[in-house]
Amino acid sequence: MSDLLSTYGGYDVKRLPTPCFLIVETKFDKNCRHMLERVNELERETNVPIKFRAHIKTHKTAKGTLKQLGVGLIETPKDSIVVSTIKEATELLNYQDKICKQYVKDICFGLPACVPEIIDQLNTLSGRVQNLRIFVDSVEHLDNLVKFGRSANDRKWSIFIKVDMGTQRAGLPTESAEFLELLKKLITPEVAEVADLYGFYAHAGHSYNVTNILDAHDLLLQEIKAVNEAAKMVRKLNPKINAIDLTLSVGATPTSNSLRIRDELEINEYIRDTLVGTLEIHCGNYCVYDLQQLSTNCINDFECSGYVLGTVLSSYKERHEMLTNAGVMALTRESSKFKGNGLCIHTDTILKDESYKIDWFIDRISQEHGILKQYHGQEDQEFPNKKTPLKPLLNLGEKIAILPQHACITMGQFPHYFVLDNDNKVSDVWIPFQKWQ
Ligand SMILES: Cc1ncc(COP(=O)(O)O)c(C=O)c1O
Repeated sequence: MSDLLSTYGGYDVKRLPTPCFLIVETKFDKNCRHMLERVNELERETNVPIKFRAHIKTHKTAKGTLKQLGVGLIETPKDSIVVSTIKEATELLNYQDKICKQYVKDICFGLPACVPEIIDQLNTLSGRVQNLRIFVDSVEHLDNLVKFGRSANDRKWSIFIKVDMGTQRAGLPTESAEFLELLKKLITPEVAEVADLYGFYAHAGHSYNVTNILDAHDLLLQEIKAVNEAAKMVRKLNPKINAIDLTLSVGATPTSNSLRIRDELEINEYIRDTLVGTLEIHCGNYCVYDLQQLSTNCINDFECSGYVLGTVLSSYKERHEMLTNAGVMALTRESSKFKGNGLCIHTDTILKDESYKIDWFIDRISQEHGILKQYHGQEDQEFPNKKTPLKPLLNLGEKIAILPQHACITMGQFPHYFVLDNDNKVSDVWIPFQKWQ
């Protein structure tokens, strides 16, 4: 048992030191199980195999990763993940070595990074896991791989080509000259000697801007069409490539969430009739959710499983505001369509599966403190508000659970997360693989 667990195990949420990060385990589990069930359902409906790859960057923990794969939650757990740092992968493999289990068998490094410094690290990783996938989005990456040679144990590098979905975030658009040049380079004998094409990978980052699930669904279809187009292009260049062996990986939490829609799915028809490769859905944030996801209107507020716990430290009657110890360092400066830096949820209600009643939000933040202001909904945040009667200020010392804007960045601020059971008591402490070295 970790020192932290022996100290805090069994503590009621209201006794925890603040600011700290809370995970409501039943909600985390439910989010993981539901996403896997949706992917399995899509597979059943389309009658074609569909893979799943969990991005672990939101929590960066071993226990969270196993849940994302469905270990203990579904009959046949998955085994593929994406990591955002080499450290996440290394620590996870260390954890597996320690428990003598191999739940994760396939790791994809989620940055296009074939430069000598990183290739060295990827090479070490490739010697430790059954399958390592790497991103390539430049001809120079391929040159660098040729210079380096095959990876550990004389294995060829397994490559995902990163497709840009128009966000100009990473990757190349399929219609660009550079993309075609990259595909041509890929099939040259010197590259084929050291690397195999595993597939194409698209990430619809712009799906975070949608405001309804139908638009998210349209973007999912666009992602699928983009990677399918790429597969057709490479097949045209080299007819020997068996397109069905190519993995076409798509997703982001909003687009993956759009699989909640079950009827009249154009996507089912497309997957069944037009897809030339094997579809893979990838996503990460969905295990926790946050205000950015709530802004997409694809989820309910009570599905969120992660909260910052703060304490009310002071109150100001005339301006009807309070001060809490959750500021920039705990909440970050991320934003969404929700004003401010977080919505406050009563600690007694974070376990419930019904819409939250929100009386307070974090209106503004300084390094180590935030200001709580009465919440009048998204439309009217002005004070004094004539329409809504004033709520009594909270007592000093009272604890508040704050739903953050962006869980992935917020969780990165905390050295550990308190996991809460159904009695709002600490049942576990997860230690994330934070930072880089
Ligand atoms: C390469 C890649 N894949 C997948 C994801 C997961 O996206 P989400 O957290 O929206 O599910 C991300 C998120 O940053 C990403 O960068």
